[in-house]
Amino acid sequence: MNNNFLSEDEINALRSQTRGCKDIIHFNNAGSSLNPDVVIDTVVDYLQEEATYGGYETENKHYERIEDTYRFIAKLIGAEKEEIALFENASAAWQTAFKGLTFAEGDEIITSELEYVSNLIGLADIQKKGVKVVVINNDEHGDFPLGKLEAAISPHTKLIAVTHIPSSGGGMIPIEAIGKIAAKHKVLYMVDACQSAGQYPIDVKEIQCDILSATGRKYLRAPRGTGFLFVKKAIQDQLSPMLTDFLAASQVSLNGYTLRQDARRFELYEKSRALTLGLGKAAEYALNIGLDRIWQRVQGLAEYTRTALGNIPNVKVHDHGSEKCGIVTFSVDGFDSMVVKNKLVEHGINVSFGGAHATPLYMEKNQLQGIVRASFHYYNTEAEINKMCSYLMAIFGGGTM
Ligand SMILES: Cc1ncc(COP(=O)(O)O)c(C=O)c1O
Repeated sequence: MNNNFLSEDEINALRSQTRGCKDIIHFNNAGSSLNPDVVIDTVVDYLQEEATYGGYETENKHYERIEDTYRFIAKLIGAEKEEIALFENASAAWQTAFKGLTFAEGDEIITSELEYVSNLIGLADIQKKGVKVVVINNDEHGDFPLGKLEAAISPHTKLIAVTHIPSSGGGMIPIEAIGKIAAKHKVLYMVDACQSAGQYPIDVKEIQCDILSATGRKYLRAPRGTGFLFVKKAIQDQLSPMLTDFLAASQVSLNGYTLRQDARRFELYEKSRALTLGLGKAAEYALNIGLDRIWQRVQGLAEYTRTALGNIPNVKVHDHGSEKCGIVTFSVDGFDSMVVKNKLVEHGINVSFGGAHATPLYMEKNQLQGIVRASFHYYNTEAEINKMCSYLMAIFGGGTM
């Protein structure tokens, strides 16, 4: 037993630093988690300062704090500051990297059934240009078959692109093991870590990935409208920036320009400095707690929930795979998952509905139309989970509240 777990006192302290914990039970952390008060105060104070002193003047004053955001994000994933670019969301980060890569007709890309819908749109577009997309399905236990991946790699394979933790499922992909295979075969490797950042201890060197994208608003607890992209230094020149302004280019003339020598070449200059600071503060907050400890707590709460839900008649848990994350998906026999979700929300318990659209390949393969998604963060408690289960029992299981 790892004795570095988050103690009850620490959980209570963290809850007291999150105003949302006072009024609601929030199990929609895979949608957008509750921000720590300090993150919101950072954003609001910065906006007040901009309103009082001017946007550019405030930026100059806080230059180093803004730079710190890149440092904290880099530290969070074991990267260098020069390998980080900021975006408004994970889809923009992923698309910027993917569309920046060059593919030729006959090239192949390997992905998995857990791939997120925005990424599938990019893959569908490239297929139209003669690039073959190969999907490696999970096995009957819900585990990613590494042997099948290795067997699928051919001299035409240019990229392995996987989503680590899916939007609508409790399973996950073994990104470190896949990275070993990608490195062995010298294939570019791209990881969607949108649900992982802030939940799981990511280390891009251990994963051996070339590209990684994530959002701020989910497990990282940053404000909405934040995200980031990691592009390994050694491959930055292999990607063409999608949109370029003066942040990325110098010595601009009609004959051309010089591209800057870090990942910020993939960003545009104008963005919310307040949200940038909020993202940095959230990353610092997570680092102070420790990602190993967060992961242990989140996994523990999710497992506790799966066991508790398993004791309610009519409730079916849909999570597959030998390693599971903080997302728990379930349905109630005879009831539309949207109805179940709405009932819980009416009772002050924020869960979400996972439709077939977010993770289409996985949902179709498992014949799921829609599921209830309860996603846990370290600030959630077993008492909150018990409350959700007794509501479910009372409303749908024929029990009493
Ligand atoms: C696994 C995964 N990847 C990517 C995204 C897209 O993130 P964003 O909405 O920040 O573009 C999501 C959003 O839910 C997601 O769950």
